[in-house]
Amino acid sequence: MNQYKKMVAAAIAAHVPELDMREISTMIETPPEAHMGDYAFPCFRLAKTMRKSPQLIAEDISNKIICPDIFEKCMNEGAYVNFFFNRKKLAEEMIGQVLAEKESFGSSKEGNGKIICIDYSAPNIAKPFHVGHLRSTVIGNALYKIYSHLGYTCIGINHLGDWGTQFGKVIVAYRNWGDAKAIEKEPIQSLLDLYVKFHEEAEKNPSLEDEAREWFTRMEKGDEEALSLWKWFSTETIKELEKIYALLGVKFDYYTGESFYNDKMEPVLRDLADKNLLTESQGATMIDLEAFGMPPCLVQKSDGSTLYATRDITAAIYRKNTYDFFKCLYLTDYSQKLHFAQWFKVIELMGYEWHLDLLHLPFGRVTHEGRRIQTRKGTVVLLEEVLNGAIDRVKEIIEEKNPNLENKLETAVAVGVGAVIFNDLSNNRIKDISFSWETAFSFEGETGPYVQYTHARACSVLRKASEAAISQANHMEGQYLTDDISYEVIRKIEQFSDSIADAKNKNEPSILTRHVIDLAQAFNRFYHDHPVLNAEPEQRNARLALVAAVKETLSTGLSLLGIQAPEKM
Ligand code: ARG
Repeated sequence: MNQYKKMVAAAIAAHVPELDMREISTMIETPPEAHMGDYAFPCFRLAKTMRKSPQLIAEDISNKIICPDIFEKCMNEGAYVNFFFNRKKLAEEMIGQVLAEKESFGSSKEGNGKIICIDYSAPNIAKPFHVGHLRSTVIGNALYKIYSHLGYTCIGINHLGDWGTQFGKVIVAYRNWGDAKAIEKEPIQSLLDLYVKFHEEAEKNPSLEDEAREWFTRMEKGDEEALSLWKWFSTETIKELEKIYALLGVKFDYYTGESFYNDKMEPVLRDLADKNLLTESQGATMIDLEAFGMPPCLVQKSDGSTLYATRDITAAIYRKNTYDFFKCLYLTDYSQKLHFAQWFKVIELMGYEWHLDLLHLPFGRVTHEGRRIQTRKGTVVLLEEVLNGAIDRVKEIIEEKNPNLENKLETAVAVGVGAVIFNDLSNNRIKDISFSWETAFSFEGETGPYVQYTHARACSVLRKASEAAISQANHMEGQYLTDDISYEVIRKIEQFSDSIADAKNKNEPSILTRHVIDLAQAFNRFYHDHPVLNAEPEQRNARLALVAAVKETLSTGLSLLGIQAPEKM
């Protein structure tokens, strides 16, 4: 919790014994208008127990309360107890804190000792890594950073789709029409081509489907020829995937894909049988979920092969035993809601209380020019194309606007990739997003490049200031920053930790993208209205200190979103 909210809650708690600090703090609001103060405590809920009107209670509390030092005053308005910051003190405290804590500003220890497993990205081998997978990757990566900032130990897992019937299809296609050189050169594209070709041919010749199933069964039974092809397809694909991850700046602690659970499913199936949870239907094995209003969860087909759900159940048990997670988060689009609901139920029926710690975090689909992104027919916007397109676009802009910039290529990568990530993260998680080249590459308005540019602008001001002025900035006087425009910037810095906590509580990085945009906009208003380097010395020092604090906060915010903050643009 924000340190000042905590103070407000403590001050209130002293006069409201029937509520504990925790409850009080959830009730504290940030009023919409300045005359209502900076934090407000509503008294409506207390009317019943205290047998007084909410107004009288608010008046009573504000008469008796000991106002924490950082606030200038505390008074009631209607049924609210309103707290007003002492702007001078807040400026000095906040700026001092940011400059001392630097990149750990806004962090906390709330998660110490707790493990969070995050299952994200998870593209399917022999299928393309498309903009749909981008959402999983960047949301998962941002959550990884946000949770880590709050003291949790995160374990990032790439549950690659490296097992399943699609391999049977690709093996058949490869044996009929494949070209080894093409696969080595461009594995993702060539394997996709084979996959698409398979479906075209199978329409004319359905027996290919049987052949594909057979090959997958051979893989599951350990057949050497089948496995060596599978291994080769996977290795080549992972090599190419790693290039994309490097470009995105995303890392995983484990690449334990679906195939990792091959030898771990049998004991789980046995356990399911021992617990009397399995039923058979037409030779297939499943868990009946009718009582819970869901279709059965299929765990084994009639030919003995296992399914996506079997591997998910096994993986969850493995992760619980191996990491003893506090929470395990799964990022996929919402079309998989039922799949997760089904197998989470199975974990519950197996008697594992920790089923409550499994969290599916669904996100909206990505459509491209109004159409769903599909694999089978090969209509996909490949992620690499998007990223390279963005980088090229930034290169052009740099050539036009700042041709003498050092590290042009690095900057183009940071800004181009940042634009794509920010564009994706600024959408509310559950919303469908329509991918268009226009929005992804927009450099104006509420975008990643706008925030990056604001950060670079702050860096540039600091570069121009003399060393002496910067060192004096540490002893700045808060009274020079009490005007409304400066105060707005300081308030955004003050609320930074709340927005990180909120983003974590709701598993919603867009809360943080919104906050860094707000901070960047507030700062640009400040910069537009207030000269910094040409101000009188004392005022200049205070303003420089604010510039430094904004720079620090923006760069931390971007880094929590998985976006770089170049110093020059
Ligand atoms: N490979 C799957 C897909 O692309 C996503 C896997 C998500 N993780 C999981 N444990 N099921 O749809």
